[in-house]
Amino acid sequence: MRSTPNTDIRSVDVAHDETFPKAVEALRTRRSGHNFDPDTDLDDETLKALIEDTTLAPSSYNLQPWEFVAVQDDDRLDDVVELAFGQEHIRDAGTAILVVGHTTPETADRVFEEWAEAGRMDEETAEQTKEQTVGLYADDRMGRDYGIRNASLAAANLLHSAHARGLSATPMIGFDAEGIAEYLGIPDDKIPVMLIAVGPSGGEEPERLPRRAVDEVLHREEY
Ligand SMILES: Cc1cc2nc3c(=O)[nH]c(=O)nc-3n(C[C@H](O)[C@H](O)[C@H](O)COP(=O)(O)O)c2cc1C
Repeated sequence: MRSTPNTDIRSVDVAHDETFPKAVEALRTRRSGHNFDPDTDLDDETLKALIEDTTLAPSSYNLQPWEFVAVQDDDRLDDVVELAFGQEHIRDAGTAILVVGHTTPETADRVFEEWAEAGRMDEETAEQTKEQTVGLYADDRMGRDYGIRNASLAAANLLHSAHARGLSATPMIGFDAEGIAEYLGIPDDKIPVMLIAVGPSGGEEPERLPRRAVDEVLHREEY
């Protein structure tokens, strides 16, 4: 394994971390890997470190409405390849992680208690905010948006953590969402958001395709 997991990353004082500027370099060099080393897989320590980095993603009220299902068994990876319309690089990667989003704020009791315990909200405000949040996401469309928005940010963290650790990772929505949910036993109130193949790189990736220019995508004051 070419990466050195930093399992105590929560204690790093990023403001004084001399490697912090490298985050920008990492953003600029991350790629979606399609060339994985088929002979090397992730060790469990690295998998857990990746997920720990991932759980540091921002989320609405810190509700962390996400789950991660890692598939590493060879036979099961074959099934995942099939459910992902034959995307063979998943098998070479050796690990497929389904990022799953909650469609209801099921962590609300615990998390709003934590806001109050930390003195960041008084108890009455925490209770009111919890009720508003539960009410807001009772709507199907809002609940789905809630899951996708939050879990997508978690997926982005996973991609960048993999890159920072010298691994390759590919986000995918090219999969049979219903089929994979059934195969992996995802409960009905949760949705598959992104499938991520992750593993040691097998070498160079093709050159990055052009990005739309800043002047084209940046709108000032209004669209
Ligand atoms: C929402 C989303 C869905 C994607 N689905 C797939 C996919 O199913 N298979 C795949 O190989 N790559 C997939 N990609 C990767 C994109 O093709 C890739 O991000 C894009 O071409 C830019 O390349 P880069 O990530 O290397 O900069 C997906 C990326 C995103 C963000």
